Amino acid sequence: MPGRRICLAILPDPGGPEEALLAALTPEEQGEARHHPPGRRRRQFALGRLAAHRAIRRALGVELTVLVLVGAHGEPVARVDGAAAAGVSLSHAGRLAVACAWLAGPEREFSAGIDLERVRPAELVGSPYAFSPGEKAMLGSAPQGELLASLAAWTVKEAAWKALRPAPPSKPAEIEVTALQLDPGWARVEVGPRLAPRLGERAVRVRLGLLEAANGQYLLTVAEVAPGKGSFPAGRRPEGKRRSPPRWPGEHGV
Ligand SMILES: CC(C)(COP(=O)(O)OP(=O)(O)OC[C@H]1O[C@@H](n2cnc3c(N)ncnc32)[C@H](O)[C@@H]1OP(=O)(O)O)[C@@H](O)C(=O)NCCC(=O)NCCS
Repeated sequence: MPGRRICLAILPDPGGPEEALLAALTPEEQGEARHHPPGRRRRQFALGRLAAHRAIRRALGVELTVLVLVGAHGEPVARVDGAAAAGVSLSHAGRLAVACAWLAGPEREFSAGIDLERVRPAELVGSPYAFSPGEKAMLGSAPQGELLASLAAWTVKEAAWKALRPAPPSKPAEIEVTALQLDPGWARVEVGPRLAPRLGERAVRVRLGLLEAANGQYLLTVAEVAPGKGSFPAGRRPEGKRRSPPRWPGEHGV
């Protein structure tokens, strides 16, 4: 898998009135934000856009006018000075938004997906909708406990799903988490028959970690889809012998 650089941005909600947050968006983005009802969802939409702007500017290395529109299937679509110069994925949860961005290359060469979940008691544990019997068995024996492992596995599914940008949407069963290590923070996935054509000959690489924020812990996962074989080509697996799941290094990393 080529060493394509993707850039990450993590943005806490600064508080203050909603209009102040919206004012930082472009007029087109403000229009799309107003399709959501005022309050939490509109705020998260705006925060996600601002995180995306930041990640895109980092990937490009220049301060240009960035626009993140809503694609046909809800996916974020980046425009930089009117052109598709970057790819982007974003997620929001609680009072945080995260985004990852990369330089746009040839169609279907590279894409990525990001997902964020607040660490909380989740009804996902044991959900037959969310997890197959095989996944459930694996999560039940995770050293960090089934609750954290299930939440992590869910972020893995969502991040891989976003990286594949499925159309039409599929079900959680279409992405099977076949291995998950919270320490040092990687996962392996297989995709089902409906998503397989979108993956093609490419491989999925998934990294995950815990993020400490002012209002608690979050799980953050990034899935990258790129030409190559296997989920984790030799030499690219994160190394290290940490006793707890890895922390994401501030706003950098990936
Ligand atoms: C779309 C979905 C992935 C969003 O996940 P979520 O945890 O509810 O919310 P997140 O904050 O993590 O992500 C939301 C962002 O995903 C992005 N998104 C939406 N549809 C997308 C798509 N088809 N492809 C890529 N990204 C998409 C958007 O940017 C959205 O934020 P915005 O509406 O503010 O722009 C999820 O709601 C969904 O419908 N999943 C499909 C069901 C499923 O099978 N899930 C398990 C994965 S196999």
